[in-house]
Amino acid sequence: MNFIDPKLIPATGNLEIDRDHRKLAEVMNRVYSDWQNGMRCPELAGKLEVLRSLLTSHFGKEITIARGAGYQRWLAHHHEHKDFLNRFDQFLGVCKLAPGPDSANIEMFMELESHLFEHEVLSDQDMWSLWEKDNTVQVNERLIDWKPAYSVGIEQIDGQHQRLIVLLNAIHQHLKSGSVPLSAILERLKVIYQEAVQHFRSEEQYFSHLPEPMADQHRTAHESLLKELKTALDEHESADVERVTALLEGYLKFWLLDHILNTDNRLREYIK
Ligand SMILES: [Fe+2]
Ligand SMILES: [Fe+2]
Ligand SMILES: [Fe+2]
Ligand SMILES: [Fe+2]
Repeated sequence: MNFIDPKLIPATGNLEIDRDHRKLAEVMNRVYSDWQNGMRCPELAGKLEVLRSLLTSHFGKEITIARGAGYQRWLAHHHEHKDFLNRFDQFLGVCKLAPGPDSANIEMFMELESHLFEHEVLSDQDMWSLWEKDNTVQVNERLIDWKPAYSVGIEQIDGQHQRLIVLLNAIHQHLKSGSVPLSAILERLKVIYQEAVQHFRSEEQYFSHLPEPMADQHRTAHESLLKELKTALDEHESADVERVTALLEGYLKFWLLDHILNTDNRLREYIK
């Protein structure tokens, strides 16, 4: 018996998030089947830890996408993720600290399932319903169009953001037209990572005069964006065209917009 039926998880309109949801359901089902087959705490705790790290990285990615897409209620959604992880940690704590025959029980799985379904079916849908169901970018469309609203008011930084947009648009165009082999596309994505590292460094120098904790928060935001980007790129190292397209259209676009609009644009008022 499946713990979560992947068919019951509704499509979000974002292929990258849909893939994450299917993967999470698969992993949850495996943990559940291990438990059904007699695996008990503390052995089960290792499996639950793996699940927890997948959930954490999915939740982070989801918020980046939501913020980059301009979803206003992202903070409330982030708190729902935190509540869910707290609940999960309680189970994990019991499993690790008091490993008895009943420390992982059917109630625990039922509760995890109902929390997750409430979240994915009720709350996540609120977020994704802002989007059209089919938000695939067509061959002749650019992945990201630069808009004056993206300007942070510093020519050098705007120029770097525009360069990142141009690079992402070019990769996306090559992918859509099939004019460049996938291996070369994957190499170019690594270049994007390096460009982002350099861009963040130059921004951190530029903003080093900002009062603490402002400068510190900006550095921390960069660190977590880079970590998230690295995880996403590593996951796609042996991916096919369809998955890399979903990565670009469903995640990388919003990753960059989230950085520009929500990390850098907030510093506008300090640039005068
Ligand atoms: Fe989700
Ligand atoms: Fe969510
Ligand atoms: Fe930036
Ligand atoms: Fe920044």
